[in-house]
Amino acid sequence: MDEEAGGQEPVSPPRSEPPLSPPLSPRGQTVVSRPVESTATEEDRTHSLETQILREVNGTARRAGLTALMGPSGAGKTSLLDCLAQRKPMHRVEGIVRVNGRPCSGTTMRAVSGYVPQHDVLPGVLTVREHLLFHARLRCPPSMDDRDRRQRVHDIITNLGLTKCAETQIGNEFKRGLSGGEKRRVSVAEELVVEPGILFLDEPTTGLDSTTALSIVRTLGDIARRGTTVLLSIHQPREDIFNLFDHVLVLCEGGRVVFEGQTMAVPAFLRRGVDMGFVRLPKVDAFLHLQAV
Ligand SMILES: Nc1ncnc2c1ncn2[C@@H]1O[C@H](COP(=O)(O)OP(=O)(O)O)[C@@H](O)[C@H]1O
Ligand SMILES: [Mg+2]
Repeated sequence: MDEEAGGQEPVSPPRSEPPLSPPLSPRGQTVVSRPVESTATEEDRTHSLETQILREVNGTARRAGLTALMGPSGAGKTSLLDCLAQRKPMHRVEGIVRVNGRPCSGTTMRAVSGYVPQHDVLPGVLTVREHLLFHARLRCPPSMDDRDRRQRVHDIITNLGLTKCAETQIGNEFKRGLSGGEKRRVSVAEELVVEPGILFLDEPTTGLDSTTALSIVRTLGDIARRGTTVLLSIHQPREDIFNLFDHVLVLCEGGRVVFEGQTMAVPAFLRRGVDMGFVRLPKVDAFLHLQAV
């Protein structure tokens, strides 16, 4: 990816690439990064220290698929998602992010994608429907009339299983409201309001019990099947959650890729580690064990 710190646009694509105009269609993109490196700069009065966070990360998130970015805490999952989504002010980044084969600028990526951060940022006093309508009015094209916006919000509430709490105030630390799982669903719903072609989620299951986590990942799988490219980071999923992923990219400490490929290729990959005893471990634990060897 080419974007520099401070949100500047990436360097222009090679001459052979056609310019990104008109913008990519909002549905069904494939994100490819090739290779991404990210470096954070920490300045004090006398020194400028650079820490490399990601090293030669290559990977693909396929259209209509559920791709998981796995790895231990501190491996660089959030950093990689930020590099791909080009949302937050970033560190020095080298590499290219391609969407449907073309280098993708920050502006285009922000226009065609949604980003669900790790921690829910929701207004406690609004109901679920009020909050989603607010987002729809703010972010949907002005040409869309209010009836269509209401219909879209209604459909999202139904698809995400939020009907039961649609008229409930979201709540906060002072006022009881939605459960943790429902709040996560509202955060996802908020991004679906603009029908993004790509959906990034940073640890959507962290802090949830395993049944709720499974149901959220199932819902994300459904969203993917409808044509969205879904890319989520996840620390250590249960085996049944892991089996829902179409594609996985595993990072180890130091921001290196341990494995990148289809979920169905994982057992064969781990069998190669038979001497190290990986086959006796569940797949997810084996990956985490691998980075320590
Ligand atoms: N701005 C920064 N300055 C210094 N170190 C950073 C910065 N951002 C991230 N890091 C470091 O990069 C590593 C990866 O962080 P992160 O992407 O948050 O990991 P993960 O999401 O996998 O837990 C961590 O060691 C973190 O401390
Ligand atoms: Mg993280």
